[in-house]
Amino acid sequence: MRIHGQSYRSIFVAGDGWTVAVVDQTRLPFAFEIRHLHGADDAAAAISDMIVRGAPLIGVTAAYGVALGMRADPTDAGLERVVELLGRTRPTAVNLRWALTRMAAVLRREPPAHRADRAYEEAGRIADEDVAACAAIGRHGATIIERLSAAAGRRPVNVLTHCNAGWLACVDWGTALAPVYAAHESGIAVHVYVDETRPRNQGASLTAFELGAHGVPYEVIVDNAGGHLMQRGHIDVCIVGSDRTTATGDVANKIGTYLKALAARDNDVPFYAALPSSTIDWSLDDGLRQVPIEQRSAREVTHVRGRADDGRVLEVEVVNPGSTVANPGFDVTPARLVTGIITERGIAPATRDGLLSLYPERAGATA
Ligand code: MRU
Repeated sequence: MRIHGQSYRSIFVAGDGWTVAVVDQTRLPFAFEIRHLHGADDAAAAISDMIVRGAPLIGVTAAYGVALGMRADPTDAGLERVVELLGRTRPTAVNLRWALTRMAAVLRREPPAHRADRAYEEAGRIADEDVAACAAIGRHGATIIERLSAAAGRRPVNVLTHCNAGWLACVDWGTALAPVYAAHESGIAVHVYVDETRPRNQGASLTAFELGAHGVPYEVIVDNAGGHLMQRGHIDVCIVGSDRTTATGDVANKIGTYLKALAARDNDVPFYAALPSSTIDWSLDDGLRQVPIEQRSAREVTHVRGRADDGRVLEVEVVNPGSTVANPGFDVTPARLVTGIITERGIAPATRDGLLSLYPERAGATA
């Protein structure tokens, strides 16, 4: 993606050949800053503190975190420690476990002296594969927008999205936003309704930043507006990302996704989840019962970050002082509400058979 005329990935190895550079997402949209990670602890903190976030990017950051850890201690004990440290950072996005399992399997086969080099190589491969997967998701998903555009005539296709599932959540392109970028690039008129996505406002801050930088028309809406807009016929399609999708097509994603899927079903609006296969947890068949839902801090609910008129970025309290709050970070949209799953291999019905038709090699898989 191009920001201020320069091409960026959300994560890359810096010019020194070893530090890992990431876009600091806690500073957006008011400042675009690159932050450097120097060790596995930095990578773990970047994930926990949401300097980086979004399922695919969490996985790639963890992979680079292992590489940083191998520079410091490439022994077997060092490898197990770093995998354990990074594995504890965030529970819902399965890309984290997926990336760590892959890194550990590759590195256990290497003698310690070669592990750091091999780890950077494998992390780079995971990052490149994610870019390719997201580009393919874009191509497949754009066919949906193209079809809707033919039906819409001269007006733009209106897409509703939740949270941020764009290039900032991945390495490039994004998942839910990749079809939007691909359609926009091929000249299809597309307009995005962006859910602000309380409590952290990833939609208002990150998705709006991305779409604006890319020149895609968008409007930010409050989280409660989507149902009304669907009733009025203002939404042609919902496209969201996912943090973990079960083998049966249940979609865990940012809290609030489920309510959009319910409203979409009530209004006959197609509802798609876009995700790379690294987000599918083949060991699960019941998202409601089996997906671990991250419980986040009360402060995310009680406080909101924003820029004051004098330019200072502040956090202000918005909840009655002393209130107790609950803050589940994700919810699960049952497969029956999902029109289809857009993956790097094509679009599948949200069913076990549908997913297996694209990934036949996973038949009988348990992880
Ligand atoms: O808590 P976050 O910001 O990491 O949550 C991100 C989401 O829920 C995204 O929609 C999901 O990771 C898909 S990202 C391509």
